[in-house]
Amino acid sequence: MHRQWGGPGALPVELTDAEVEALGARGYFLRTSLLGEVEARSVQDEARARVSAGTLHPAGIRRGADRTVDSHVRGDHVDWVLPQSGSALGTLWERFQALGEALSSGAYLGLGRFDLQLACYPGGGARYARHLDAFPGQSNRRATAIWYANSDWKPAHGGQLRLYPDGEDPVEVPPRLDTLVVFLSERLEHEVLPTHVPRLALTAWYYGRDAG
Ligand code: OGA
Ligand code: NI
Repeated sequence: MHRQWGGPGALPVELTDAEVEALGARGYFLRTSLLGEVEARSVQDEARARVSAGTLHPAGIRRGADRTVDSHVRGDHVDWVLPQSGSALGTLWERFQALGEALSSGAYLGLGRFDLQLACYPGGGARYARHLDAFPGQSNRRATAIWYANSDWKPAHGGQLRLYPDGEDPVEVPPRLDTLVVFLSERLEHEVLPTHVPRLALTAWYYGRDAG
């Protein structure tokens, strides 16, 4: 059985039973192809163009109440992606919206709005140390979805996403073009291993319906 949901006009995202089960049991699931090759390459082209245009800025991290930039902990450059019709990035934004609706109806996550961020790790060993995307108990990020845009990725490039599921061995996800990973933001610790070439990702963080 598939569970289906989608906004008006938007392509729905269907979650399989296996994906819903994996999210509950392990805190994550993976899909190796979300959009298909042609559309994925269009998104990658637009993402690369945004990077070349120079609008990204070094990502911050929170230390207590303060936001600081520390490239040893987190080495990526980021920018927000807004809904925009008629562009490949806009289509991806809609897919993330449909994914949030599928997670709410199929996996009972009760998600509301989401933010979408383009992140580029420049290479040269840039990484993101092990962390959680949300602290349990605060009504903030509930689910994280990451889609990768690295068509030429090879193991020697590094930059794998390492996930730390409870009580299981860590799992390494290659950041290959069109791979999607979804995990529970308050539960799954993860890190980005050092990357030796530029590495592009689009990350959506979904907030609970009760969040401001
Ligand atoms: C993050 C993060 C992982 C990735 O931005 O919080 O963990 O694979 N990103 O880009
Ligand atoms: Ni993270």
